[in-house]
Amino acid sequence: MDYIYHEEVYKLKERLNEIKEEALEQIQSAVDEKTLQDVRVYFLGKKGQITEVLKGMGKLSKEERPVIGQLANQIRDEISEALETKKTKLEQAALEQQLEEEAVDVTLPGRPVQAGGPHLLRKVIREIEDLFTSMGYSVAEGPEVETDFYNFESLNLPKNHPARDMQDTFFITKELLMRTQTSPVQARTLRKHEGQGPVKIICPGKVYRRDTDDATHSHQFTQIEGLYVDENIRMSDLKGTLNVFAKHMFGEDRAIRLRPSFFPFTEPSVEMDISCKICQGEGCSVCKGSGWIEILGAGMVHPNVLEMAGFDSNQYKGFAFGMGPERIAMLKYGVEDIRHFYTNDIRFLKQFHGV
Ligand code: PHE
Repeated sequence: MDYIYHEEVYKLKERLNEIKEEALEQIQSAVDEKTLQDVRVYFLGKKGQITEVLKGMGKLSKEERPVIGQLANQIRDEISEALETKKTKLEQAALEQQLEEEAVDVTLPGRPVQAGGPHLLRKVIREIEDLFTSMGYSVAEGPEVETDFYNFESLNLPKNHPARDMQDTFFITKELLMRTQTSPVQARTLRKHEGQGPVKIICPGKVYRRDTDDATHSHQFTQIEGLYVDENIRMSDLKGTLNVFAKHMFGEDRAIRLRPSFFPFTEPSVEMDISCKICQGEGCSVCKGSGWIEILGAGMVHPNVLEMAGFDSNQYKGFAFGMGPERIAMLKYGVEDIRHFYTNDIRFLKQFHGV
């Protein structure tokens, strides 16, 4: 005979099925894990809806209890499973959203990295250094804060000598100054050799003069000095060396000429011009109509300079020259204003990368 269930069984079954429906619906519409957690507590928790149903089992007979018990377990399992599935879905969705938000467009072109390059002045100085070191010169350097002795006196420019006016000087004290030329490095190097030749150096470096800055003047600029002292050095050696230099820097078709000049530390003294590249010697605005452009000062080392440095001027002769790399660079690359070298406008500097 069929077992006749107590009325209460049907009520509880119905309630359990309601719980299932409700729970699955809420799980379905949950948008985050927090809501899922709340659903779990509300339906499956210690004080949750299912527990509530099980409390009502007291009224049931011994045979009826497992029926409700089993159903309750089954529904609990179904809800748990639905919660798990939904949780995984939400996690998956969150991950996908994060991936989408953080997506990198690998097809976007990168930001180009600007490659730096040596300063034009640095390049010209290096080019001159390379040429002279290839001819056996070594590079010597000296201090920018110099003594009156090395900057002037040792170069045959005693105190109160009128030629000091050629170089407006930044004095620091009576005896200390910012060097006005690289020539003191000659004097320093000669002394180190203690009267023993040969001495063959070039000296690049910064120099300072009390000039008002304009397109062709700067209170700080650079010079390169050359000095060759040995037995039997003659003016023709100077001329030949300068000729090689001019052709190397400005082209084989350049001619040079030496004009008499004056420097206290050389005798005789000359200034060297190169033929104007623009007009080939015809005369134009760059060479101011003369066909020639002044490049550097030079001469045979004055015997006083040799003697003061401890060299026997009967045994040793020498030549020296001094030039401004800015001027060389301006002529070679058509730079119109010396201030471009120091203001470091990247647009100016970039033009000379790779030249
Ligand atoms: N020191 C000189 C100047 O600054 C240039 C120079 C150097 C001339 C060496 C002759 C010999 O004007």
